[in-house]
Amino acid sequence: MVVDEFDPHALAEQDFLDEVHSFQFWFDSVEGYLSDRPYGRLETTVDEEMDDNRRERLITTLCNYSVGETAALEGAAGLVQLAPDRNSKIFMATQVADEARHLEVFLHRIRELGVADPEAEIARRAQPALVDFKGTLLELISQGDWQAGVFAQNVILETMEYTVFRLHAATADAVTKDVLAGVISDERRHAGFGENDLGRSLAIDPSGRGRLREIRADLDPMVLGVFEAALTDVGAPAEGHAQLAGEYLDTVERLGLT
Ligand SMILES: [Fe+2]
Ligand SMILES: [Fe+2]
Repeated sequence: MVVDEFDPHALAEQDFLDEVHSFQFWFDSVEGYLSDRPYGRLETTVDEEMDDNRRERLITTLCNYSVGETAALEGAAGLVQLAPDRNSKIFMATQVADEARHLEVFLHRIRELGVADPEAEIARRAQPALVDFKGTLLELISQGDWQAGVFAQNVILETMEYTVFRLHAATADAVTKDVLAGVISDERRHAGFGENDLGRSLAIDPSGRGRLREIRADLDPMVLGVFEAALTDVGAPAEGHAQLAGEYLDTVERLGLT
């Protein structure tokens, strides 16, 4: 099936879930924007000159993105085991592959920017709040809490990543823009899964909302502050901050979690 022609509303709910949570759907989705792009970059794209200040700020941003991607990679891997049905396990496995690829392309870009040892640079530049978020996410998952894990990872982290990566792409150098374009398309799918999965489970049992609101109060500030700093570092326009907060709030509002 050609993805652009895909009409989810034409399918019954279970058929819809079978379709969109499959590796087949994943492959149909990614081949359009990942084929012929080594490390996410079109071979025809030429690297731009960049002054030291801009390069430094970009490296810091990509190091923090790498922390977020590692959190999602380890988180999604843990969620495969917790997923309540086979469709969700398959989807989470596609997400594991996506997050590993995101981490790989960001590490590759960090090296292209002149960093010999990205691991050491990430340890030096990672914002402590994001490292704390990663620890909390993995703790929720190790407790066996699927709903909280999906909320923290696929709603809080991914919704904010989706907005920040798009704002960053608008001001980025040409190669980083290429790399971000493929990542953005994946994050959209991940955030969509999170909202869809939680929307269905909260409609059946709204009692989980109170607990998710508490998790939200703990985790929102950890992630929001880091991505606000990233927006400043990449030179996003001032209204970008309002867009970040606004798009995230729209999502939690649709889930009844404000
Ligand atoms: Fe990602
Ligand atoms: Fe993601």
